Amino acid sequence: MPDGAARLSAGEPRATSAEPWSKQNPFLQGPFEPLFNEVSIRSLEVIGRIPMELDGALYRTGSNQHMRPANPDLFHWFDGDGMVHAFHLRDGKAGYCNRFVETDGLKLERAAGRPIYNGIYGHSGVRQAPLPPGAPRIKTVAGINVISLAGRVMTMHEADSFYWHLDADSLDTLGKFDFGGRFKSMLTAHPHVDPATGDLLVYGLNYDEMYVECMSIGNMGQVNSHVRTSMPITPFVHDFIFTENYYVFFFGPIRWRPYAADTVLAGNSAFSFDRGSPTRILLLHRKTGVAKWLEARSFTCDHYLNAYELGDKIIVDATVTETLDPNADIRPEEFFPFPLVDKPSPFSGPQLWRIEIDLARETVSDRRIGEFAAEFVRPNESVMGRPHRYGYMAGVHNPGPQTHGFNCLIKHDYLSGRTQYQHLSSEIEMTPGEPVFVPRDGGEDEDDGWIMAIWYDPRRNASEMTILAAQDFDGEPVARIKLDHRVPLGFHGNWIARTSLR
Ligand SMILES: [Fe+2]
Repeated sequence: MPDGAARLSAGEPRATSAEPWSKQNPFLQGPFEPLFNEVSIRSLEVIGRIPMELDGALYRTGSNQHMRPANPDLFHWFDGDGMVHAFHLRDGKAGYCNRFVETDGLKLERAAGRPIYNGIYGHSGVRQAPLPPGAPRIKTVAGINVISLAGRVMTMHEADSFYWHLDADSLDTLGKFDFGGRFKSMLTAHPHVDPATGDLLVYGLNYDEMYVECMSIGNMGQVNSHVRTSMPITPFVHDFIFTENYYVFFFGPIRWRPYAADTVLAGNSAFSFDRGSPTRILLLHRKTGVAKWLEARSFTCDHYLNAYELGDKIIVDATVTETLDPNADIRPEEFFPFPLVDKPSPFSGPQLWRIEIDLARETVSDRRIGEFAAEFVRPNESVMGRPHRYGYMAGVHNPGPQTHGFNCLIKHDYLSGRTQYQHLSSEIEMTPGEPVFVPRDGGEDEDDGWIMAIWYDPRRNASEMTILAAQDFDGEPVARIKLDHRVPLGFHGNWIARTSLR
């Protein structure tokens, strides 16, 4: 539980805005509207009962723009400053705090009193202004994920060669964790723990020397293994997955060059669309570093549930956006069609797919799972790398005229084919974020544990954290933990048990 005063900063988090920075841009309004205050709250209202064995915190981060953007109408969701939120649970009680991640770019803008950086994902339309000596060339916002590594809480972007170390209780930014300066690549915000070894598997991309590298990091932060191979393209890769023997990448048709002189620095998007490009699949052997490449039709894997080997096949379960016309001339502002904004898109909505890679025949097949839209997919991580039964995700099911985003959490059973939905309210559509599975101590079944998620309630313009029994997925939550302010719809996070911290 956080110590100190009930609230560390004056005033309440801004719950409503009479003057949003943009009345056109959905990413600056409603459930996306940034918070400005950083608070610590000792005790939250709880409906139900928080299981006593839960001792730790659910950490979540997302986009939370601090300065009025230079061009608010062009602001992109992915460009907001990172703000980490923590729901601390102990002895059946809940506390909360939130903090900006004090990145170099945010500190420079605070000192200047104005935004001085272009966005990476969107575009400002103006050339990057001259920066102080030693300043980062682009602004990385550390707003994608929160993990535990080497007994510490870390948060990160995906265009840096380091992670940010946070205080587990106060969320104060303590410094950079750079693996001893060993890696000269952009490190992923989606590392995965290999349950077979306990190591954290991390990849990095270097677009100057055109290689991808994969590292297995031990629980003291040491590099236990390291392989790398060259890349023929400059892909946008946001996640990867692994099996017993392979690191698995899908390089779709979207390209990404955040540090190139003609992109962000020139006021252009770091993204581009490679018209007519297939999807290139990289299987990088975890021990030998031997690379095998295959091709598939045009789609983008957004997030992975899991992958495993089955004879000569590799099975990959992921959320995918399909390129509806690979030969179209697609603009960067049309990318990433999360079901959150009402705009036509050259891509399908995010869907759950099973992809099968036949190593003997060197073929790739795919099929959609279910009729729902799905994103932010997570498994019971203790089964990663080997066959799983269940997947959990945020999704859209039975949308109505008022549906503008995810309206439920979804549990899919790959063995029985059964899909369950949790809408939380029968009266109004509430919007959930990523569900995180927390196994029950001593549990044997794959779904013996809890699902934690943060939901936005439009009636209150406020958020709450729910704890669901995963085996009673569509039943009443065991606990609803209420905030009186909004956690802006964000990205990723994890449950980190207190005992795992040093
Ligand atoms: Fe992600």
